[in-house]
Amino acid sequence: MEPLGHGVATSSYQIEGAVTADGRGPSIWDTFCALPGTVADGTNGSIACNSYSRLDDDVALIEGLGVSAYRFSIAWPRIQPTGSGAVESRGLDYYDRLVDALLSRGIRPFPTLYHWDLPQALEDAGGWPARDTALRFGDYAGHVAARLGDRVASWATMNEPWCTAFLGYAAGIHAPGRREPDAAYAAAHHLLLGHALGRDAVRAAVPAAEVGIVLNLAPVRAEDDADPAAVAFVDAVQNGIWLDPLVDGRYPDVLAPYTSPVVQDGDLAAVQGSADWVGVNYYTPFRIGRGDAGTRAVGQATAAYPYAPPFVFLPRRPRTDMGWEVDATGMTEVLLATARRLRDVPLRVTENGAAFADGQRTADGRVDDQDRIAFLRDHLDAVEQARQAGAPVLDYLAWSLLDNFEWAEGYRKTFGLVAVDPHTRDRTPKASYAWYAERARSGRPHTD
Ligand code: FCB
Repeated sequence: MEPLGHGVATSSYQIEGAVTADGRGPSIWDTFCALPGTVADGTNGSIACNSYSRLDDDVALIEGLGVSAYRFSIAWPRIQPTGSGAVESRGLDYYDRLVDALLSRGIRPFPTLYHWDLPQALEDAGGWPARDTALRFGDYAGHVAARLGDRVASWATMNEPWCTAFLGYAAGIHAPGRREPDAAYAAAHHLLLGHALGRDAVRAAVPAAEVGIVLNLAPVRAEDDADPAAVAFVDAVQNGIWLDPLVDGRYPDVLAPYTSPVVQDGDLAAVQGSADWVGVNYYTPFRIGRGDAGTRAVGQATAAYPYAPPFVFLPRRPRTDMGWEVDATGMTEVLLATARRLRDVPLRVTENGAAFADGQRTADGRVDDQDRIAFLRDHLDAVEQARQAGAPVLDYLAWSLLDNFEWAEGYRKTFGLVAVDPHTRDRTPKASYAWYAERARSGRPHTD
């Protein structure tokens, strides 16, 4: 077996800042953050980690880790400020420089084409519930591949389309903040269609490219009192809605009434078999109990799973700062289940990591994040276990290189291996950075 590749991950809106530089157009996250009450600490990504200006600092940190890959995302509104039409070459220049800087240090550039920053003009024209957005995405993907494809072999189309569709268009807690259940299912289909069109466009420009999709899959676990219909529905919205079309060219039966209004002839044939690899972002298992009708928890849960029978999430302890249950066995479980479902399609863990409060300090004042180290160690070991049991996992990308803009949570939830000063944006590696560097170097699973 090839050794597991190690890397780190970020995304454009979470780290870049510079939201008006070099012709970048507004994205739905710029608009959403400006609305009152959308982001817990009232912040936004307009400066973030200032990675647009600190490209060299970031690349030096990645080099210092000794990892083999860097997963970053490309901001669509830098490339096409209104989501269609002429290309803004200054936006592409930034990623061009990033790719070259990585390659010159022996680090594989691993771009994601869509990590949630939709050009606002496309949302104004209907957003992901509108079919045209998928076509526009295909066009955009082709432009990026034409510029970077001579140096980039592996591409991801969409990051976590579940979040875009269901947090963005059903629960309304992510941009664009709409609460329209039927639109969420339409968005889900158009994200899959966009993936398929994007893959075709990348391959047209770069025939040897490998193009995958990144999904936040999760094992769905039933408490004793859970309604089996609710458990099955949550599993379908979280996992089956992506995997079933990709593998079998059909939606789960329980969801077909909601997706069928927008599915056109040939769409599912285009989606079936369209992932050269699949990225799994795993953070936590989902534990489902019976909903006590009328409670807030039921409302929140069902809003992101439209038309599900009532249920509640019941995360056990220990939990991270996000309130997410910590359970590394879920990593092994989700990788093995996904490998069985996808048969020979290679997998990558495209995100895994933890937010902790980061209060402990070493003698020299650095963050001493032993809790994050334990989390990463246990989850990396769980990945190795899945590999031993036959799951074809190529890489593990830790989320995240930097403390960054954690969407609706703002800057208060920190996932980084590197702390970022909120005023100066200076970067200071945490204890987990040194630990991960050693793990990546030795590749050694934890044995005691
Ligand atoms: C995932 C996102 C990523 C980051 C982590 C914590 O859902 O893909 O951008 O916010 O969660």
